Amino acid sequence: MARELTNVGVVGLGTMGAGIVEVFARNGIPVVAVEISEAALERGRAHLTGSTDRAVARGKLAEADRDALLGRVTFAVGLDALRSVDLVVEAVPERLDLKRRLFAELDRICRPEAILATNTSSLSVTEIAVATTRPAQVIGLHFFNPAPVMKLVEVVRTVVTSADVVADVEALCGRLGKVDVTIGDRAGFIANALLFGYLNQAIGMYEARYASREDIDAAMKLGCGLPMGPLALLDLIGLDTAYEILETMYRRGGRDRRHAPVPLLRQMVTAGLLGRKSGRGFYTYERPGSAKLV
Ligand code: 3HC
Repeated sequence: MARELTNVGVVGLGTMGAGIVEVFARNGIPVVAVEISEAALERGRAHLTGSTDRAVARGKLAEADRDALLGRVTFAVGLDALRSVDLVVEAVPERLDLKRRLFAELDRICRPEAILATNTSSLSVTEIAVATTRPAQVIGLHFFNPAPVMKLVEVVRTVVTSADVVADVEALCGRLGKVDVTIGDRAGFIANALLFGYLNQAIGMYEARYASREDIDAAMKLGCGLPMGPLALLDLIGLDTAYEILETMYRRGGRDRRHAPVPLLRQMVTAGLLGRKSGRGFYTYERPGSAKLV
């Protein structure tokens, strides 16, 4: 029978990490939310309170439930706060060296039976796992943006992940109201492997001035029934994140041209046009973090 994971930690409170904290807390699971500095912690806290305040304002969450949700979150600077959790979900930037160092640290700090999960979207879970002394307890747990809304979680097992750990994590996904798909460790797993070639091609079409950003997005939204067009979706994902994912998939996936990042994407990232998070990407937003267009 699956072991019940009763208290968890999340490391890295960017867009994904803060969303994952919200998912746990919404579903009654106490969560330790960790960042490397007070400033980063404050940004994560603001993300969480902003999201839950919006839910209250829209009449989707009672004030008392919001307060209970926030009461389940313990914010902390530094990994020491993770000593007694059953599961850690790592959501730091997509750099293999950074993640490997972090997992080696978590391995030293966390209880021997704790599961260490990575939210990586394109890096090798196996390469992260072997930075620890417990690779059988390392697994991929890939959420989608916005994490509180998107139903899917990709559970990524490596050739050494233990079957019990997979079962524990699948059971947890059910408690979070998510649908899980369990797959092996391959660049981009299922969803990003299929999605990012399409997103990259949409940037190429825009770069070639074949169509306006509005028309590209309208075609896919209204013609194909997607909730948003590719350029609006890239702004939501974050252009820096999208670039890192494409780069990694290009390298790990046999240099498939579909994943060679279009030059415009790189230029936009270099110029600080990162999408919603910076206030400007393919579209311009009311302020950084806002979904409202100007
Ligand atoms: N946090 C919490 N809740 C949010 C939210 C957020 N950031 N954004 C939206 N919501 C909630 C709203 O509160 C609303 O809830 P309600 O139905 O209970 O009122 C619901 O989501 C719908 O929101 P809106 O009415 O404001 O807007 P839309 O109906 O236009 O939906 C959307 C917004 C959910 C973002 C929708 O456009 C969508 O599904 N877009 C596609 C997203 C997608 O494809 N994500 C995957 C990206 S790839 C990825 O993440 C992989 C990674 O590795 C990069």
